[in-house]
Amino acid sequence: MPKRILALMFGALVSIGAPCAGAPSAGLVPQPQAVRPGEGSFVLDQRTRIVAPADRRAREIAGFLRDALQAQTGLALRVVRTGAKAPAIELRMDPSVRGEEAYRLTVAPGRATIAAADDRGLFWGVQTFIQLVPARNGTSESIGAVRTEDAPAYPWRGVMLDVARHYQPVAFVERQIDLMSRYKLNVLHWHLTDDQGWRIQIRKYPKLTEVGAWRTETDGERTGGFYTQQQIREVVEYARRRNVMVVPEIEMPGHASAAVAAYPWLSCPQRPVVVPSGWGVFDDVFCAGDERAFAFLHDVLDEVAALFPAPYIHIGGDEVPKRQWLDSEATRRLMHERHLADGEALQGWFIGRIQRDMAARGKTLVGWDEILEGGVDRQAIVEMWRGPEQARKALANGNRLIVAGPFYLDTPIDRLTLQDLYRTDAFADPAFAARPQQMLGAEAPLWSERVTTRNAEAMLYPRVLAFAERLWNPQARDYADFQRRLHAQYPWLEAQHVAYGPEDRDLVDYQLSFNPPHRRWRLRAARGFDDIELHYTLDGSEPTARSPAFGDVLDRYAPGTIRVAPFRQGVPYQASEAFEIVDNLALGKPVAYRAVPDPRYTGTPGQLVDGILGGSDFHDGRWVGWKGADMDATVDLQQATPMHSIQVRFLQQSGSWILLPRQVGLAVSNDGKAWRALRSTTIDVDPRNLRPTVYTVRLDVAAPVTARYVRVSAQNYGTLPPGHGGATQPAYVFADEILVR
Ligand code: ACM
Repeated sequence: MPKRILALMFGALVSIGAPCAGAPSAGLVPQPQAVRPGEGSFVLDQRTRIVAPADRRAREIAGFLRDALQAQTGLALRVVRTGAKAPAIELRMDPSVRGEEAYRLTVAPGRATIAAADDRGLFWGVQTFIQLVPARNGTSESIGAVRTEDAPAYPWRGVMLDVARHYQPVAFVERQIDLMSRYKLNVLHWHLTDDQGWRIQIRKYPKLTEVGAWRTETDGERTGGFYTQQQIREVVEYARRRNVMVVPEIEMPGHASAAVAAYPWLSCPQRPVVVPSGWGVFDDVFCAGDERAFAFLHDVLDEVAALFPAPYIHIGGDEVPKRQWLDSEATRRLMHERHLADGEALQGWFIGRIQRDMAARGKTLVGWDEILEGGVDRQAIVEMWRGPEQARKALANGNRLIVAGPFYLDTPIDRLTLQDLYRTDAFADPAFAARPQQMLGAEAPLWSERVTTRNAEAMLYPRVLAFAERLWNPQARDYADFQRRLHAQYPWLEAQHVAYGPEDRDLVDYQLSFNPPHRRWRLRAARGFDDIELHYTLDGSEPTARSPAFGDVLDRYAPGTIRVAPFRQGVPYQASEAFEIVDNLALGKPVAYRAVPDPRYTGTPGQLVDGILGGSDFHDGRWVGWKGADMDATVDLQQATPMHSIQVRFLQQSGSWILLPRQVGLAVSNDGKAWRALRSTTIDVDPRNLRPTVYTVRLDVAAPVTARYVRVSAQNYGTLPPGHGGATQPAYVFADEILVR
């Protein structure tokens, strides 16, 4: 569908990027394509009627308007078929309004008219009118006269919710649909299956949700959940009423661990696996060389196609390890028979087969940009996430394109601020401009590895509003004006209890540091809003609003676990964070490195002996990393010290090129010159293991050793091997702590 050129359509009407403050449109998001203030105002009171044509969808839209106005003002208006004389809000089908989803809204004394050529435009006109109505209880509201002509620049304006990594209740999903709809976003891409959870009931395969919807976290807690088919139908219907199309994503051939946990015969090795609790890319994928896997996917797609009326089904297709396929004799035979040279070609064949299965039911396949790798049919829609070169490749191949890469909302707010997002011109690429008919639009994905119901809205809002405006009206470019209009939205969002986040920083940014002379750990918390209250516990339990509180700084003089959670007005606002502090003999002692750590991963000097343990996120500021070099660190305990245990913690996060060391040596010395080797251990490093793993090398001795210096040397893995995403590049070695006891 072509990008619509609105400036041409509206003739004499002037497009006003930044209406003056106080103009009726001052608070609208997204900014309409053209707005012109009029004379006088329209009075909304209990005499006002809503006039709507007889057709079913128009009556439904009129009902939506009535309910929204009642919720917002307390006024209960009647919906009627005609009302030429009475003061009215009139909904009208009008073929003179040109463009898909376009509408014309005219607010004048005595009458507000919303005209559109299609029911989608009529609904968006209603949403604009609702935004013009003040949110307060009263017997009458006055709305300044205005004339608006409006239509979206792109037809596909989506938000992707990942409910697989963390399940979200139906009420949460419906509320996001409400908010998307208010800001004229029209596609909910519902990421329903992944390694860590299968969230959609499939009647023919009950174990998908009996087994695949639940996992055991590292602390032993069982978590999960799924949607029954009845709930799915409800959500789809809820979205339809609000002009939102729900596009389901059923991941294949990769990200399939939850399905394989339910039915091990779906993978080539058919090995039993549990639903994983860690994040990353997993080897357990649907077997390309086994007809049973295709029969299963055919059956699943039967039920999915019946539940979702959208003409699209997203099949994922990203991050598929080929290892199990290439290790499988049956799959290799298939490759030979079909002249498929490698794993990529096999994946292309897999996707093509699924695409034909879907086409037979009238559904179009959507996939992440990896579907290009095996050569995909041009009818498929490609969702770009890895970068513009993938988008160019898709366009050159003739595919339609959805841009997602620049809009990942799981990116911390300080790294993708509201302003960054508003200024992102994802469509400026000349290759895009050359093929406007292939540019469907964009999606803002919210991956949920680190997102739960508690912090999801702070990640989504207000950034979703900036995203919505980019897609609806790319001509609106004035950030200050956007911010003014956004701030006019905040009272409404607050009235709905939307837990939106700060615009340019994380909700809370924690920094934990150790001060050796004072033997003091200081947790600093930079709060994104002044009224955030931080409550904490020291026993590992979840803080409540009655737990002790601190402001910007919490000082601790003893080891233990600090768990902190932010609250606003007594309500928990985000997941808690835990900080683990351990005491030991190396604490705060001088450390000398042979090779200098990578400047991005050095943190503070003394980081290896600050008693602060790193998490599985290598960005957490607690890890020290060496790129292409060995780690060689010596701790000076400053006096001869008896010790019975030395531990060193390393990280593997292969997807980020961080591998465990091949060999670790521990040595001690009394003078820093003559070394006595205590232990050397080799590690069988597997670069294909993509799970973030913290690995502790530990030496316990029965009789204490006495020494002043402790030296740890860890051999870097070296060059990343063939098949790895960073092949031929040097690996990193990461360590966070040396513990001497
Ligand atoms: C993706 O982020 N793996 C599509």
